[in-house]
Amino acid sequence: MKGLILCAGRGTRMQPFSHTTPKTLLPVANRPLLQYCIEKLQRVGIAEIGVVINPQQTGIIDFLNGLKTPCTVKIIKQTRPLGIANAVQKAKGFLQNDPFVLLLGDNLLCEELHPLLQAFEGQDAALMLSRVENPRDYGIAEIRDGKILSLEEKPAAPKSDLAVIGAYVFQSAIFRAIAELKPSARGEYEITDAIQQLIMRGGSVAFAITDKPYSDVGTLERWVLANRWMLGASHGSRIEIGENVRIENCTIRGPVLIGDNCILQNAEIGPYVAVQDGVTLQSCQIADSICLEGSTICGVDVKIEQSVFGRATTLQGGGETKKITCMLGDHSQVALPKPRTNKGKH
Ligand code: G1P
Repeated sequence: MKGLILCAGRGTRMQPFSHTTPKTLLPVANRPLLQYCIEKLQRVGIAEIGVVINPQQTGIIDFLNGLKTPCTVKIIKQTRPLGIANAVQKAKGFLQNDPFVLLLGDNLLCEELHPLLQAFEGQDAALMLSRVENPRDYGIAEIRDGKILSLEEKPAAPKSDLAVIGAYVFQSAIFRAIAELKPSARGEYEITDAIQQLIMRGGSVAFAITDKPYSDVGTLERWVLANRWMLGASHGSRIEIGENVRIENCTIRGPVLIGDNCILQNAEIGPYVAVQDGVTLQSCQIADSICLEGSTICGVDVKIEQSVFGRATTLQGGGETKKITCMLGDHSQVALPKPRTNKGKH
């Protein structure tokens, strides 16, 4: 069995961060989303993985070249954003006639792939499903007597709240269904429509339902939220500190993850803060946030929450409000006004 991870999406809802970093390389608890996918495939014994990127995403090639993994990884290019089924089609030369696990690179699943692979045994396809609050945003399965009757992409009138959450297994029969697809209303070749085709032709599509946390890390808010639950899941209330970190007069509440070569002084940090390498946090209060490599927060008198600081950003000063939320793209600099005081007035 092979693995296929899709990373070619433009990530427009993750701007400004996706201007400089492909969405699937953005870190959750200091590890890129793509790394979680690769390790998940590895844990079910998959040794050959294809990664679909768009040609501009050279950062993904560099990341994969530097990654220590026993798997062989093949890069496949999708030049136009024509949807998931089109990306799978592009990988046909790599997949050949082997069964394969398909993962959407921006979906973070706490569930392992074993239940999905068990469901797949002897079937044409299998889908991981989860109950969601907003079924109109997903591919939705209609299930009766333990069987999937139909699948519909982002339905106006959802037949259930069971959503497809970006983990699928297929036999090569899916390629025949993909070949017959027409673009959807959003101009994409939908994998949901291909699976529906498969069902209509009598193909067997199994499923596994998970109640473990899941996130489509498609918006900045969901990124911060995913960082929060992944830190909770991996660290509990633990504090992990990297090498060569200077800590003076700080209060740290776990879960908190600090990278290497950081300076932490007179700061209140946590809970739920992930800090990459080379970050400086001085005279500030920060919770529920992500600080990317080389960012600096210094002398900020207000509480910082639900924020992301891009690489090499600087935030200084401030005291006019009680708390702030920032989404600062790489290399941004912000100096907040100092609070007005009555000094000098008579
Ligand atoms: C895609 C799929 C959809 C699935 C979702 C999971 O949607 O088309 O069926 O439920 O991923 O995140 P998209 O993210 O392209 O809107």
